[in-house]
Amino acid sequence: MSRRKILIARAIDPQVVAFLQQHFDVTTNAADTVWSPAQLAAQLQGQDGVLTTGSERIDAALLAACPQLKVVANMAVGFNNFDVAAMAQAGVQGTNAPDVLTETTADFGFALLMATARRVTESEHYLRAGQWTKWSYDMFAGAEVHGSTLGIIGMGRIGQGIAKRGAHGFGMNVVYHNRSRLSPALEAECKARYVSKDELLRTADHVVLVLPYTAENHHTIGAAELAQMQPTATLINIARGGIVDDAALAQALKAGQIAAAGLDVFEGEPSVHPALLTVPNVVLTPHIASATVATRRAMGRLAADNLVAVLGGQAPLTPVNT
Ligand code: DGY
Repeated sequence: MSRRKILIARAIDPQVVAFLQQHFDVTTNAADTVWSPAQLAAQLQGQDGVLTTGSERIDAALLAACPQLKVVANMAVGFNNFDVAAMAQAGVQGTNAPDVLTETTADFGFALLMATARRVTESEHYLRAGQWTKWSYDMFAGAEVHGSTLGIIGMGRIGQGIAKRGAHGFGMNVVYHNRSRLSPALEAECKARYVSKDELLRTADHVVLVLPYTAENHHTIGAAELAQMQPTATLINIARGGIVDDAALAQALKAGQIAAAGLDVFEGEPSVHPALLTVPNVVLTPHIASATVATRRAMGRLAADNLVAVLGGQAPLTPVNT
């Protein structure tokens, strides 16, 4: 029987490529080109499966152009690049890569919180620019982290990881808001108290966003929500661009409506709203929350295992549209 054909849509860990080559005829994108939808459709001709990274849009138009496609394995926990209904309609299995990145991403959420609250990048730029001439009592005085109130919006696995770090490692008072409340056992494990979104925004010293991007979650944080936050508060987004109204956030940062923000994701990334680039009190990173060598390899391997399972006639390990 001839081997199944798969496409790897972007450059990924070579160990994962080698693993896939044991199972399939593999087409790679060694140049790591970001293909347009038309280029992706052209590359997908005759392919049974594709490994995507989370940036490639899988919608009805693409699926209509690629009737042979059976499975799309996202190397990301988020799958807002999938039109899940269109995939179900076309009989194309979608999979994502949860769990393997939970702790790594929670680590980064905390790193961004710390860097933002304690003004790490802002002070480093000042030093590198040769502006440091003397010690001053209020030089880059930031916000307290230990013992402060941590508000988490979106209490899935990554949110819970951040809650545990805050409560157990930093003695923070953790409040959370989520579509559904956690079980009493999980709340106890995370030392987290469920509150309304309004209460969280009003009372948290640090607000961390870890919710999935959906149409309902578009601009969960906009001008009205920023106005509810304390002027000393920080906002951290490691979820998805589009959950925050970046223009409203830049305005709030400029106006001192909140103290600072840490952003790993952006509306329309890799473009960043120009106003955000001009405010000093924001830490900006290029969507790297899951980026450790081991975790990116594990994410690729889980996506690869999903391709092997589905194209081998088995159930997917981590399906998104069944
Ligand atoms: C994810 O897995 O969804 C992360 O954002 C990495 O892309």
